Amino acid sequence: MKSVLFGLVAALATPANSTFVVQCYSRLFDQRADPLVSPGTAAGHVHTISGGNGFNFTMDYNSARASKCSTCNIKQDLSNYWSPKLYFKAQNGSFLSVPIIGDTNGGDMGGMAIYYLTRGGPDNDKLRAFPPGFRMMAGDSSKRVATDDFAGRAVTHKCVGGGDGPDSKGLPTTKCDTIRVQVTFPSCWDGKNVDSANHKTHVVYPKDGNYDGGRCPSTHPVHFPTLFYEVYYDTKSFKNMWYGNKQPFVFSNGDETGYGYHGDFLNGWDEAVLQKAVTDCLDGTPDCPAQTFGEFRSQGDTQACKLPSMINEQVSGVLLALPGCNPVGQAAPASCNAPRISLVASPQSMGYVDLTKSKGWKYIGCGKDDAGQRTLSAAQTSGDSMTVESCVDLCKTKNTLYAGLVYGGECYCGNSIAVDKAPVKGSVGNCLMKCSGNDKEVCGGAGAISLYQACKGGACSSLAKRESRRLAGLEAANLERYLVG
Ligand SMILES: *[C@@H]1O[C@H](CO)[C@@H](O)[C@H](O)[C@H]1NC(C)=O
Ligand SMILES: *[C@@H]1O[C@H](CO)[C@@H](O)[C@H](O)[C@H]1NC(C)=O
Repeated sequence: MKSVLFGLVAALATPANSTFVVQCYSRLFDQRADPLVSPGTAAGHVHTISGGNGFNFTMDYNSARASKCSTCNIKQDLSNYWSPKLYFKAQNGSFLSVPIIGDTNGGDMGGMAIYYLTRGGPDNDKLRAFPPGFRMMAGDSSKRVATDDFAGRAVTHKCVGGGDGPDSKGLPTTKCDTIRVQVTFPSCWDGKNVDSANHKTHVVYPKDGNYDGGRCPSTHPVHFPTLFYEVYYDTKSFKNMWYGNKQPFVFSNGDETGYGYHGDFLNGWDEAVLQKAVTDCLDGTPDCPAQTFGEFRSQGDTQACKLPSMINEQVSGVLLALPGCNPVGQAAPASCNAPRISLVASPQSMGYVDLTKSKGWKYIGCGKDDAGQRTLSAAQTSGDSMTVESCVDLCKTKNTLYAGLVYGGECYCGNSIAVDKAPVKGSVGNCLMKCSGNDKEVCGGAGAISLYQACKGGACSSLAKRESRRLAGLEAANLERYLVG
């Protein structure tokens, strides 16, 4: 039987200790982008980036709030969350990207969990929502030596499945099925500055207690919820590839210690909703998130929220070097040639084939498909020699208006697309599977359909590109970035 007294004592011992979680089931992309540290230019190293698709190399609160979708589940949150990507350094010197749990060859991408620890410290301070424009960074990319201050304790790694010990400050030195990388942000704000030169000094860790809970100092008296990021890297398949006498993983910034792991946050919350959540949840209300946030985004919608790559470089798969200038084991050099940010996305980076001239058909975006109820159902074929061209040719002979490709090797033709299956505005979608007959082309994905449309009279006007931008769901203000002409 549960002791009422014991329950009461326990409750009193941990006042103001509650949590809600923003589940980012997916991410926008992996890219050398960091609007905090490197605004307007390519960042020094690759980040895995989650949150609203208003994300940009230069951005502010309004850009985040203008997002049309997010990779995270709470609808009122359009913030962005990012941190360095993990690689495996192979014995032959190549770098292999380490998948995040949830990455699949069907085009899904795994994401991260963002804990909002609603802790008011021992004085049970009222918590304040992050104000518009607020941004911050936790951790230090150049750090290669462990420290025991709160900032040093705030970055940790957990080995799951293999020598599961306590969390370690550095990357695990034993073979793990999963490495969970964790960073906790400072929760005490100066109450004035939404940012600072190093993106850190406007916030500090508590002055007592620990990095994730305690009293705020008088210099930084305003208490925020404590942000805590978790990213799960799937390291199982690398277990039989270890060599030498060191652990073989390295972060995108060249850090093989793990001490230089860091996280960035750019607030995109509806301020009133976040304020209500941190106020209500402070009392430990059990169903607080559900009550406060109402309906959540579906996992499918978060998976379909993606941005096209804006830098022409490979960041996943087998790499000869870490993208950027990131010598392993050393801090990055002070200056390094930055690649151009592409304002013109090639059809390939957008995941489609330009058939406007060759066939008089145009790409209209990545929609949804469902094996139980096909988006297009007038005709179909499938096989291991599928290409976009062969599918469009089939639909031409069937005289349909649309052609769609699914799961790498399936082709469907039809004359209309239901609104709930159409490409989502502002998102490139989840069409990332290579075509079975041409690995340079994209043929939809799992539950995702690459959609092509016959141009009127077989002639795609000069508006074709603008049309495909519109239908690929890209905002007018955003056009130059993707396609020009
Ligand atoms: C290096 O080894 C890895 C792991 O076996 C392999 O995937 C990669 O292709 C190799 N790199 C080169 C350049 O051969
Ligand atoms: C992204 O940044 C570019 C360059 O600054 C700008 O032209 C574009 O409008 C931005 N996109 C959004 C959605 O703000």
